[in-house]
Amino acid sequence: SSPLRLGIAGLGTVGIGVVKIVQKHAEMLARRSGREVAITAVSARDQMKNRDADLSSYRWETDAMAVATAEDVDVYVELIGGDNGIAKDSIEAALRAGKDVVTANKALLAVHGQDLAVLAEGLGRVIRFEAAVAGGIPVIKAVTESLAGNDVTRVMGVMNGTCNYILTRMESAGLPYEAVFEEARQLGYLEADPQLDVGGIDASHKLAILSSIAFGTQVDFDAVEIEGIERVSIDDIRRASDLGYRIKLLGVAQMTARGLEQRMSPCLVPADSPLGQLVGGTNMVVVEGDSVGQIVLRGAGAGEGPTASAVMSDIVEVARGVRMPVFGQPAASLTAAKPARTAVP
Ligand code: NAP
Ligand code: HSE
Repeated sequence: SSPLRLGIAGLGTVGIGVVKIVQKHAEMLARRSGREVAITAVSARDQMKNRDADLSSYRWETDAMAVATAEDVDVYVELIGGDNGIAKDSIEAALRAGKDVVTANKALLAVHGQDLAVLAEGLGRVIRFEAAVAGGIPVIKAVTESLAGNDVTRVMGVMNGTCNYILTRMESAGLPYEAVFEEARQLGYLEADPQLDVGGIDASHKLAILSSIAFGTQVDFDAVEIEGIERVSIDDIRRASDLGYRIKLLGVAQMTARGLEQRMSPCLVPADSPLGQLVGGTNMVVVEGDSVGQIVLRGAGAGEGPTASAVMSDIVEVARGVRMPVFGQPAASLTAAKPARTAVP
């Protein structure tokens, strides 16, 4: 059969990770996909930048839109980022041009994910975003595929590695928040806008996407009650530790009689529990279903290899011809689920 031709826009941490996997595992991917997976076109801002990968056999486009709509591209892989602008415009253009889309763009999906999925499904295309929630942890496929026989009752987890690093390091080194925040900045862990991390916004983007998939509800980022980690003091951490607890930035989504509750806040968890044992930049997602009980998924939520691994799982799924809707059901059929706090008079 004909090769699956990829156009990749964004050649940063994740984009280059994807290029490296396609190059390193060409034969394995062809075996697993049933067809060759080939990159035809790429785009980023600066063509002269050294990118730690050989891109010479791919057509370079200065405009991501040209990749998204190119005749020799079957799948548009959007790895630029940003919750609007070129990322959104190019995804829409790709879908309208008959391409399937794979993206890791959690900020975009938390706001426009449902509309993009409705657009894709209306056009007979698929959009996939495994990497958008908890990086390398295959949580979207777990919920939509492996747990399809469950009524999910609760999802929760630690979904921002930077916050988990900061909180862990405050405890292990006995350092105040400000000192560890500065350390994280120097290590390059923080997003360009650090408020996305420490303000709990990035983790809430992921929670909003995941809870929509888990509960079959419309993506409702605005309904997430968010408190970040900026006000967690070293004294809070010491007091929690004395009582046998740790403080984690925990996202919890559950369906209640009054509607969907989505909360992201620093929480006390028992120090000897799986969540309490989670250190450094790692992520953990806990899913509870009526048949399966509780399952715990743990792994790297960020970084070149883990995030590219998740992107590749989507690409292979598209190559195999899997056309299942990304929310596990048609995006247009997701129900409104107003949060409990707005439902209570
Ligand atoms: P990044 O390292 O900042 O790379 C972004 C890339 O986009 C760069 O190559 C940049 O070009 C390119 N770019 C920017 N504006 C562009 C434009 N107008 N046209 C074409 N290319 C453009 O970002 P990243 O960390 O790889 O993240 C990519 C996506 O994955 C984001 O949505 C992010 O939220 C998501 N994600 C990342 C991680 C992670 O661990 N990094 C984890 C999960 C999800 P230049 O290189 O020329 O500047
Ligand atoms: N800033 C994010 C984190 C990157 O620390 O988890 C991965 O989404």
